Amino acid sequence: MLGKLEQLRQECAVCQKCPLGQTRTNSVFSDGKPNSNLMLIGEAPGFNEDMQGKPFVGRAGQLLDKIFESVGLSREKDVYICNTLKCRPPDNRDPLPSEKEACRAYLDAQIAILKPRLILLCGKVALTSFLPDVKGISKVRGQWFDGPYGSKMMPIFHPSYLLRNPIARPGSPKALMWDDIREIKRAYDELVLKGNE
Ligand code: URA
Repeated sequence: MLGKLEQLRQECAVCQKCPLGQTRTNSVFSDGKPNSNLMLIGEAPGFNEDMQGKPFVGRAGQLLDKIFESVGLSREKDVYICNTLKCRPPDNRDPLPSEKEACRAYLDAQIAILKPRLILLCGKVALTSFLPDVKGISKVRGQWFDGPYGSKMMPIFHPSYLLRNPIARPGSPKALMWDDIREIKRAYDELVLKGNE
């Protein structure tokens, strides 16, 4: 399993399937624990991720780590983190449909190799890749949907959105994220208890 993943990482590192291959510094394949029950799929690398070749290492990534830590989950031990696009769109613009299409096979292969039981769709780019008919993350965040290979997928707010909406009053994005991460931890613990880790 890890051999296949490493091969895929190497393919990704030299990928020229779309023009982002010409402008990236590094492709950003994944971080965290590969054989985890829990996968998080974000949007695309930003400046810091492009420089370091690792997903979620900038301000949004630091907040994501804190959110996981708030329920005792850690990037190193519990979560496999990747993105919808493996290369940074210039000026952090939204990914183009053609870029998502070109990169999709890598994401599908990551899922097929790892077969995580729980998948977090972090932000609208990941959400629309898997649930294209859903109108808006606010309507579906916190709910489990059927995903590939018998997995359950939950859309969650992107940490960048939480950085733009930092107030934690009842019903705010930050408060809702707190509900969602507790439900994610509950589902993760249930899998561990069943011995499926
Ligand atoms: N935002 C994302 O969606 N992914 C990253 O890796 C960094 C910021």
